[in-house]
Amino acid sequence: MTENQPTIATTIADFITAITKALAAAQLQADEQARALAAQEGTEVIYRDVTLGFVPTMGALHNGHATLMRRAAEQNDVVVSSIFVNPLQFGPGEDYERYPRTLEADAALAGEAGVQVIFAPSVEEMYPDGDPLIRITSGELGTKFEGKTRPGHFDGVLTVVNKLFNIVRAGAGDHEVNAYFGQKDAQQFVLIQRMVHDFNHSVNLRPVAIVRDDDGLALSSRNEFLSPAEREAALVLSRTLALLRENSLNRGFEGIDLQSARERINATEGVRLDYLELVDPHTFGEPTEESERVLALAAIFVGSTRLIDNMDLR
Ligand code: PAF
Repeated sequence: MTENQPTIATTIADFITAITKALAAAQLQADEQARALAAQEGTEVIYRDVTLGFVPTMGALHNGHATLMRRAAEQNDVVVSSIFVNPLQFGPGEDYERYPRTLEADAALAGEAGVQVIFAPSVEEMYPDGDPLIRITSGELGTKFEGKTRPGHFDGVLTVVNKLFNIVRAGAGDHEVNAYFGQKDAQQFVLIQRMVHDFNHSVNLRPVAIVRDDDGLALSSRNEFLSPAEREAALVLSRTLALLRENSLNRGFEGIDLQSARERINATEGVRLDYLELVDPHTFGEPTEESERVLALAAIFVGSTRLIDNMDLR
């Protein structure tokens, strides 16, 4: 057991209690510090409300998750994380069963990164009545790009995130909640943003830039499935996106040759392109010359492993 071992809650009730307790302890400490500072400087006491950082994950944590957690710890007094491989967001024949489950190692990594409480529920705890009757639907955007290849995926993501936000809010009371999401899942982020807006969730969303290995491969729990040869082949994805960015920076919109980029990916042995498209990241609609930002968005199959990545071209 390391010094920073987080508390692990497996029930919703225990998680809510653990959040409330951690926030109460942090508030006491912040109040004491405020009083000590005022006494030292001979000024009035200025109290501040402590905040909660929340990092939802499916576990198999890597440095990308640690970056989200460290960011949350820098910006909040208490950090909690969920580890739940959500069956609703996997389609038939996808990798739900083989998705890595590594709770012990995850708890150590999360603790080192500043997480105080982990919520690791069973499927029965999250969905006690089996398949939930009521789900969030992700609309037209949920059927494009990732949603086209993975029908129902985003409905599953939004349904669980909606539930997690409600649970975390129940523990946080009046304290501000900031939730951290990686930008590798750019479409997921935009959909969660829409859900927060449409459902009036009182949670601030904090996007965090993609974390890459030194050779450019975006960190993903699914990288674990790659053999050394497949990992090498997978590099074509980030390299192609980087080339598109370079051409776009040098020659503007005109310089973006999607067709050649697609061919380059498909010409790589063992790699099959799912999609490579350009979007305006604010709307996920088609970008124009005038778009402030243009995002190249791609998914590939390397053997049986599906990887996604994206890059800002402006
Ligand atoms: O991005 C993920 O890891 C998952 O989609 C999330 C947000 C934890 C929901 O299961």
